Amino acid sequence: MDYVALPKIELHAHLTGSVSRRTLHDIWRRKKDAGDTDIQDPMAVMPEGKHDYNVQTFFPLFSSYIYNLLIDEASIAEATTAVLQGFHADGVVYLELRTTPRTTPLLSPETYVRTILAAISAFSDLHPQMRTRLILSVDRRHDYATAAAVVELGVALQPLGVVGVDLCGDPTAKPGGAVRLFTPAFERARAAGLGITVHFAEAQASGSREELDVLLGWQPGRLGHVIWEDDEAKREIARRSLCLELCLSCNVLADMVEGGFAGHHFGYWRTVDGPKISLATDDVGVFGSPLSKEYELAAQHFNLDRQEVCSLARQAIDSTFGSVEDKEWLRSVMWTA
Ligand code: IMP
Ligand code: ZN
Repeated sequence: MDYVALPKIELHAHLTGSVSRRTLHDIWRRKKDAGDTDIQDPMAVMPEGKHDYNVQTFFPLFSSYIYNLLIDEASIAEATTAVLQGFHADGVVYLELRTTPRTTPLLSPETYVRTILAAISAFSDLHPQMRTRLILSVDRRHDYATAAAVVELGVALQPLGVVGVDLCGDPTAKPGGAVRLFTPAFERARAAGLGITVHFAEAQASGSREELDVLLGWQPGRLGHVIWEDDEAKREIARRSLCLELCLSCNVLADMVEGGFAGHHFGYWRTVDGPKISLATDDVGVFGSPLSKEYELAAQHFNLDRQEVCSLARQAIDSTFGSVEDKEWLRSVMWTA
């Protein structure tokens, strides 16, 4: 089966984590030649072929390194366009990219997000075969004011293609239900019509009963990862028929699950009635496995036939955060392919 040709939906991809080493290197080279940076070559920091990042090494890669490179409008636009090209070339027809609005030495969070939206818009004009929408991420390390500002930005930029908000970041931050601090911000997002997705029980540290209750209380439409949740949360997920964004390679390579691909909880959730599964890459720049490969891995390790693969790819249509028209368009694209 040609997994690249299969029309696919990607709902869980972090922009900065999706930038390839080659693109980072090209940006770095130009800056270095112009005397604009003294940081190390991305190829030295993240050697080609290295994909075994874990919770300890993964988050500092962004906060201590990539965020020091992608600080200006031109680099952020270039990185965004390259990421879109990558998904498009891999047969993605609908992409909900997510990113954490951040202040750089040169940009405000709003200019950062507007730069990305402009790059998306320019790319969409040239490639109408792929639709891209944006989700803004609240980082668990944020304080309340920053989280609320992320949501307000999302609400203000809805007309330009922001469709949802996310909770991401180091799962060891704000343990034991302390993420309840963000509740008013997520309620505001929901009231304004933004979709809500959260990283859910991604690690043991973020799998406490208190936290799962808080997160489900935000009425998310989708959950990312779902690894350490208890039986009560499992029942609630099934009862609500939530959409699960499952990231096979990321979880296996980062040692977040036991038993390799064959032991991945995709195997459990596909047998449960109700929830929808959306395979996702999370950070293709870091883990190196494009979405087509994720479908191939699922088919290989869970013995899916062609029909099952096609039906898996279509499962998430109704859980996308885009418009009714986006969903109708997706149905037409994915059912005629
Ligand atoms: P950005 O939001 O576009 O800057 O993408 C990188 C950021 O996404 C990182 O700094 C993390 O906060 C977040 N991120 C990427 N992958 C994961 C994950 O697997 N779990 C939680 N957060 C993540
Ligand atoms: Zn993620």
